[in-house]
Amino acid sequence: MKLKISVVAGLLAVFAGVAGATDGNSNVLQLTKDNFDHVVKPADLMLVEFYAPWCGHCKALAPQYEEAAGQLKSKDISLAKVDCVEEAQVCSENDVGGYPTLKVFRKGLASPYGGTRKSEGIVSYMTKQSLPPVSQVTPSNHDDFKQSDKVVIMAYNLKPNTDLYKTFHSTATNLRDNYLFGESDDSSVAKSAGVSGPSIVIYKSFDEGRNDVNTKSLDENSLTETININSIPLIDEIGPENFSRYATSGLPLAYIFENPEDPKLAQHVDELKPIAEEYKGKISFVWIDGVKFVEHGKALNLIKDEWPGFVIQDLQAGHKYPMDITKPVSKKNVAQFVKDFSNGKVEPSVKSEAIPAEQTDSAITLVADQFDEIVYNNEKDVFVEFYAPWCGHCKRLAPEWEALAQSYENDSSLTIAKMDATANDIPPSTKFSISSFPTLKLQPAGTKEWIDYEGDRSPESLREFIKDNRGTKSATDGDKEAPHNEHKKDEL
Ligand SMILES: *[C@@H]1O[C@H](CO)[C@@H](O)[C@H](O)[C@H]1NC(C)=O
Ligand SMILES: *[C@@H]1O[C@H](CO)[C@@H](O)[C@H](O)[C@H]1NC(C)=O
Repeated sequence: MKLKISVVAGLLAVFAGVAGATDGNSNVLQLTKDNFDHVVKPADLMLVEFYAPWCGHCKALAPQYEEAAGQLKSKDISLAKVDCVEEAQVCSENDVGGYPTLKVFRKGLASPYGGTRKSEGIVSYMTKQSLPPVSQVTPSNHDDFKQSDKVVIMAYNLKPNTDLYKTFHSTATNLRDNYLFGESDDSSVAKSAGVSGPSIVIYKSFDEGRNDVNTKSLDENSLTETININSIPLIDEIGPENFSRYATSGLPLAYIFENPEDPKLAQHVDELKPIAEEYKGKISFVWIDGVKFVEHGKALNLIKDEWPGFVIQDLQAGHKYPMDITKPVSKKNVAQFVKDFSNGKVEPSVKSEAIPAEQTDSAITLVADQFDEIVYNNEKDVFVEFYAPWCGHCKRLAPEWEALAQSYENDSSLTIAKMDATANDIPPSTKFSISSFPTLKLQPAGTKEWIDYEGDRSPESLREFIKDNRGTKSATDGDKEAPHNEHKKDEL
């Protein structure tokens, strides 16, 4: 990392002037209301962490932040922190809503920090912030530049004002937070890169190490896509901090569940790389710590006693496709499974409790295997409570839900049902997922629609909702007064 970066002027001098700003051996500046403006306003670029001493995420960040501060010192990029308990005013002036909050400051102007909370990520992000969108690369720093980040994109021999030049520069400006971009029109640099004519090369510290971009009719979208696809390792580890990166791509996610202690982990992953390569840009392959995230495996219906396991998740449709757990996760089996999946030959896995032999309650027990049959019955409105066995609100609602169902027991055009949404998946026919418990939804007869119940849990409100939204007409709902159960009995 001997990259020459455009130097951030005078920062060191500023810090030298603020005596006692860092404690002991720390490279992180401690800011207070007395020195905040003096330090932050003149700085061309710095990162400030607003924290609270009791906050667990802040404690976890501290050593990473310290390490990053040490590494960034040589690049004249400073890291500072503000204790929001001691300096409540500074934090409220900076609109700090939670802890930790990280902000990048340029001459006192703040913008949100968009990197990770690991030292490597902080260094990489702040280095990019310190550089122009495209760095000018020379014969003497070309080799260093190519290796100065996990992914580096270089342009060679681009002529200013050509379409390719404009595409490269506008893409670089948009993606500057994520990647390092450089250019050179020096013929010896192009020669050492092994290119001739206008060229764009993606260098990376993993997998094949280099991708030569096809520049024919390249536009900003296609260049962005090419960079994004090629900058994710063929099979990387996935975790909570980078799940969203995969999720936003919209591609199905293929997981290898592994025990990280397994000495054969690298071998398993390597074996599947050619498959990941073949489906690059269509399916993202990852491996995941199956010991730590065993619950995630269960949620994907991958119920195994022993890893590795393999499952594909279609995040957009909310479907999951666990590979037969009795089959070893071999190259051959996975290749066949992925092929079948991409040809639409694999049915999504839908977890279901057994269909009840008989219904004992007025609120009928709904399970995934009987979902479509009961719910999409054109003669009946169906009002469903989706619950979780551990949920306290659900337990309190249970007797009231049963009473509601009882009060409609003679209404042949309304079904009141309950479904344990932890033991049953919502089948593919239905396009929602349950994120909180209890969730109450009405499916009016003759439609495929679902209407959310958002009122209070009183019987009156529930009845009113049913009356207003049901697709069928019912004698019970005919009268204007919200009937009490007693009253209704008399009517019938
Ligand atoms: C994603 O997170 C895991 C750990 O949870 C890490 O090992 C991996 O390098 C990260 N990948 C990327 C591309 O950030
Ligand atoms: C349903 O009809 C039966 C038989 O007529 C009656 O005994 C019962 O009370 C009715 N239930 C309700 C809730 O109206």
